[in-house]
Amino acid sequence: MTEPTFRTIIEPFRIHSVEPLRMTTREQRRTAVTDAGYNLFKVKAQDVLIDLLTDSGTGAMSRDQWAAIQHGDESYAGSPSYFLFRDAVRNLFPFEHVIPTHQGRAAERIIFSVLAGPGKVVPNNTHFDTTRANVEYTGAQAVDLVIAEGRDPVADHPFKGNMDIDALDALLRERGDDVPVVFMTITNNSGGGQPVSLANLHAVREVCDAHSKMLFLDACRFAENAWFIREREAGQGERDVVDIIREMASLADGMTMSAKKDPMGNIGGWLAMDDDELAQQCRNLLILTEGFPTYGGLAGRDLEALAQGLREVVDHDYLRYRIRSTAYLGDALQRAGVPVLTPVGGHAVYLDARALLPHIPPLEYPGQALAVALYEAGGVRSCEIGSVMFGRQPDGSEVPAALELVRLAIPRRTYTQSHIDYVIEVCEHVARGAEALTGYRLVDEPPALRHFTATFEPIT
Ligand SMILES: Cc1ncc(COP(=O)(O)O)c(C=O)c1O
Repeated sequence: MTEPTFRTIIEPFRIHSVEPLRMTTREQRRTAVTDAGYNLFKVKAQDVLIDLLTDSGTGAMSRDQWAAIQHGDESYAGSPSYFLFRDAVRNLFPFEHVIPTHQGRAAERIIFSVLAGPGKVVPNNTHFDTTRANVEYTGAQAVDLVIAEGRDPVADHPFKGNMDIDALDALLRERGDDVPVVFMTITNNSGGGQPVSLANLHAVREVCDAHSKMLFLDACRFAENAWFIREREAGQGERDVVDIIREMASLADGMTMSAKKDPMGNIGGWLAMDDDELAQQCRNLLILTEGFPTYGGLAGRDLEALAQGLREVVDHDYLRYRIRSTAYLGDALQRAGVPVLTPVGGHAVYLDARALLPHIPPLEYPGQALAVALYEAGGVRSCEIGSVMFGRQPDGSEVPAALELVRLAIPRRTYTQSHIDYVIEVCEHVARGAEALTGYRLVDEPPALRHFTATFEPIT
């Protein structure tokens, strides 16, 4: 019998416990954002109606994850919760060593402390902000080598997260001795949540082999990436995502992970690899700041929740809903004439602030202007991914970012379609008044990762 098809994307879960949202007035939001120095990271969460600042750690855990928490064993060493976690990781990423960390950036700090340093160069399709910062903090250079389409907000390409293979090869020919490891971010968060194809990963592996280099995955959104491969890459449509994930893992020598994304955790991360000597060096650093190797920076209960999350995230019904519901937001905005980065990514829709606000120069931060306007108009919190995040260079100069984006990140299993319909209306409202928006100037900023704590004032 043929299965009838229906248009509506339904959430493949029902709500089990609820959290209230607080309604605010425009006046209250204006006060909140002014008091926060126009930095949305500094706005209190209770002053936000729909929080799309990040998909990191903000998703809803399942009934079974909360139940797993009760099994948490808090033994300092050798907790059974660690072995359950390790085996759940290895089921997808069969690396010899699995080292838990409190979140992804801790894994980054450890691996780059061991491998990078002054004079070194780390290529990536696009470094995420914390990845770049952790590379640069060691004195090394972080180089982004995404394909040209990945830098063009409207280029139509199914895998805009792909690495430019020729550019990688050229870098390794020129500066091979300085490159300790090649990274691939799947999906490519800073480039719009765009996937990387299996073919590209194979090609990167070949180049790495030709130059005897290690390949590491920054694999936060591995399941979303695998789903895109299943949907878009020739010959992959019948495969189980678990199979695809294992193939991606088989091409790498190791990985860093923020378990606050696809593993569905509120906290967590890990570092994994095959090399014994490298793992030993990483564990030595882990013990300095994160904790004993069977818990990293995590409680046993967190490890249990992550093990269960890893089982849930590879469910096809979940992934189909996840990718289609993100596309629902992006498609509606496109129909309304709001410029968005296309194709729409997996975990977020990225508004193209440069296209919407051409009258605001890059170093007056059009993305910041748009993000503040969305908050003021409707209490929607988003995140600037543009010159505020990436403009400051290690030598102190300021250079416009390749793209001026505002990310509407969708926490996993948290908001319903009517919440998203409301977000669409808020975006349409702000886009209609775009010409009246003005830019911002920085009032103060910290030396690194300035977007988290900098303060701004409007240019009037
Ligand atoms: C691609 C990517 N890498 C690394 C990280 C850092 O992870 P965490 O926030 O857990 O430190 C993130 C977080 O957003 C990310 O998206």
